[in-house]
Amino acid sequence: MRAGVWAIMAAWFCCAGAAVAQEEAALLARGRSLVEGVAACGNCHTPKGPDGELPGMALAGGLVIEEPGLFRAVVPNITPDEETGLGRWTDAQVALAIREGRRPDGSLIGPPMPIELYRGIADRDLAAMVVYLRSVPAVRNAVAGSSAYQMPLPPTYGPAVGRVPLPADTAVARGAYLAGPVGHCIECHTPTGPGGGRDWSRTGAGGPPLATPFGPVVPRNITPSRRDGIGGWSDDDIRRAVSEGIAPDGRRLAPPMAYPYYARMRRAELDDLVAYLRSLPATP
Ligand code: HEC
Ligand code: HEC
Repeated sequence: MRAGVWAIMAAWFCCAGAAVAQEEAALLARGRSLVEGVAACGNCHTPKGPDGELPGMALAGGLVIEEPGLFRAVVPNITPDEETGLGRWTDAQVALAIREGRRPDGSLIGPPMPIELYRGIADRDLAAMVVYLRSVPAVRNAVAGSSAYQMPLPPTYGPAVGRVPLPADTAVARGAYLAGPVGHCIECHTPTGPGGGRDWSRTGAGGPPLATPFGPVVPRNITPSRRDGIGGWSDDDIRRAVSEGIAPDGRRLAPPMAYPYYARMRRAELDDLVAYLRSLPATP
């Protein structure tokens, strides 16, 4: 009898342990595919030189992003380095920074980190991102200076987020989740409204110009408008523009859209994005 109980308990411990390890591995894989794919955190958080991202510096910060008259943002190091990165933050603190834009000291994270949209990241994906960020090499890189904002920052991004489920299991809902909360495509591709925030009634109709070292680039209209948007494009055309940065006429699309990251998206994710973009109203 005794031996039987021990056998059952041993079996339980063994398999509970295996299940935890399996869940951890699944979260890590999901976190990697999001952070290195559609979320493209490194598009801002990895420093760049003339030949692209600096080797050995993944997510180590230091890039300066300027919008003249609005801000000069210095992107922080989010590797697990104890001195210069997130090494001393708890998982909950990292999660709160990503989804609610608040640091452990209570200060608010400013733009262009797209916090308004990140508030919609599902609990499970947020946990996956944190597990993945913990796993990347710690890079010692003290980022000099801090961001300066000429525009007023909100006192908060809103009430505590609470629980966020994964999107409904349809292509359009999954695509909306990728294009919004996870990939912030619509942050760049939506015009500003009268209050200075995004005018979500015109989602996808093209965004304000972005300052780049090569001059301003304009995020285009990606609604199904035939005249102004991508209504005349095939599904292949859209997938190629997003994942390879090549327009149907062969034109090379300019950064800062994160083409090398989107190149890592799975075909199913690209298909969901296409379904979502086709579901938007055709907006001039
Ligand atoms: C469009 C650029 C951009 C993208 C994309 C972006 N970030 Fe950020 N992030 C920033 C900037 C800029 C700051 C600092 C803002 C400030 O100084 O207030 C920041 C701050 C942070 C911080 C706070 C770190 C600290 O030490 O203060 C964390 C954590 C973070 N980002 C994680 C992420 C993750 C994870 C992703 C992807 C899911 C991501 N970021 C995507 C620009 C970006
Ligand atoms: C950092 C801002 C930014 C983000 C994020 C972004 N884009 Fe873009 N996108 C641009 C800019 C700028 C262009 C125009 C590039 C050019 O004309 O050379 C563009 C071009 C495009 C085009 C080609 C449109 C045309 O008419 O040529 C498509 C399609 C597109 N984006 C879809 C997406 C999708 C889908 C996502 C999310 C997975 C996304 N974008 C994320 C800035 C962004």
